Amino acid sequence: MSSSLDARLSAQLDQFRRDGVYKTLNYLESPQAARVRMERQGEVVNLSSNNYLGLSAEPAVVAAGKAGLDRFGAGTASVRFICGTFTIHRDLEAALARLVGTEASLTFVSCWSANEALPGTVLTDRDLVLSDQLNHASIIDAIRLAKNITKCHTGVYEHNNLADLDARLAAAADREVKMVVSDGVFSMEGAIVNLPGLLEICRKHGAVVVLDDSHATGVLGKTGRGTAEHFGLLGQVDVITSTLGKALGGAAGGFVAGSAALCDYLTQRGRPQLFSNALPSTVAASALASVEFLEAHPERVETLRENARYFRDQLNALGFKPLPGETPIIPVIVGQTAAAIQMSQLLLEEGVFVTGFGYPVVPQGTARVRCQVSAVHTRDDLDLALAAFRKVGARLGLI
Ligand SMILES: Cc1ncc(COP(=O)(O)O)c(C=O)c1O
Repeated sequence: MSSSLDARLSAQLDQFRRDGVYKTLNYLESPQAARVRMERQGEVVNLSSNNYLGLSAEPAVVAAGKAGLDRFGAGTASVRFICGTFTIHRDLEAALARLVGTEASLTFVSCWSANEALPGTVLTDRDLVLSDQLNHASIIDAIRLAKNITKCHTGVYEHNNLADLDARLAAAADREVKMVVSDGVFSMEGAIVNLPGLLEICRKHGAVVVLDDSHATGVLGKTGRGTAEHFGLLGQVDVITSTLGKALGGAAGGFVAGSAALCDYLTQRGRPQLFSNALPSTVAASALASVEFLEAHPERVETLRENARYFRDQLNALGFKPLPGETPIIPVIVGQTAAAIQMSQLLLEEGVFVTGFGYPVVPQGTARVRCQVSAVHTRDDLDLALAAFRKVGARLGLI
């Protein structure tokens, strides 16, 4: 690295420290679970993980990963179209399509890659893509990239504001393909997209609906099949993207699910697929085992829902005002970024791991600590966390 670049970066890092927005990595010495062992901190209750169903340490999932490694070796040593597709990839893709209710699916090394592949591969300069204002960074960057590559038209509609979306689609009637992209569950709010309304508006304008269900797969719906199942609309969403790095085992990986033609086209032309390796064997195998576990144990999803309801209700009873909702993402807004970071540090001292988020991850003035509960938290785990919240909240004058 050139010294002038290093000097600039170091100055900026110092500024982050002065502003109280410098992020410190917490190193864990144990698998993701309801309680984890954190280096120098010991055992803490973990409210900072997307391991919603507890599958990342589920014995059947771990065993499948090891068996995948034994059977297929470490990985494909190539991109898929050259010599790199294992039968486990095909099995996983069939299982994912079955789970989310589409004809086909195609896996990527991350949902970031899956999102990046979609608009930049399938759109043209005759098309329009509209994105919810609070969509995940991977969608925002995917659309920026698509605009550069394809010269497609782009726009942002107000968060969950269907009237705004309707007006923007009406103003773009002459675009050949109109694509609307939304998170299923918004990761910083825990809010669920108004899918029935979104589908109605998009159908009216002949727009393709793309839902990023990263925080909904394994979480929403009676059997964890995502936002569409939650609303009784399974099979109605044109394209679903999601991650394998959260509820479905938590290792890594993502996928695009939709029509067979879409997945085939992405196989033929999607650059993140054409020029990057396939999912490692262990990951493909453990993700497949996670889907099968979920299909066999829908009661895990119900436990997750009960835990989320309990924790949210108890926070309210303590006098906090978590954002209302029904997902296991439970944010407590504290205002400034430094306050969120301070609260998460104080909670950690009390044995609870919760991350504080501030600008630019969330809008200025809405910094928060974001609690995430899982199906494997016991009442003891949650009560211990609540006791810490009471103590820290009182100390900071929040309750
Ligand atoms: C809504 C959403 N989409 C995409 C991603 C990226 O997923 P991955 O970690 O598989 O790249 C995330 C991860 O934070 C997410 O929350």
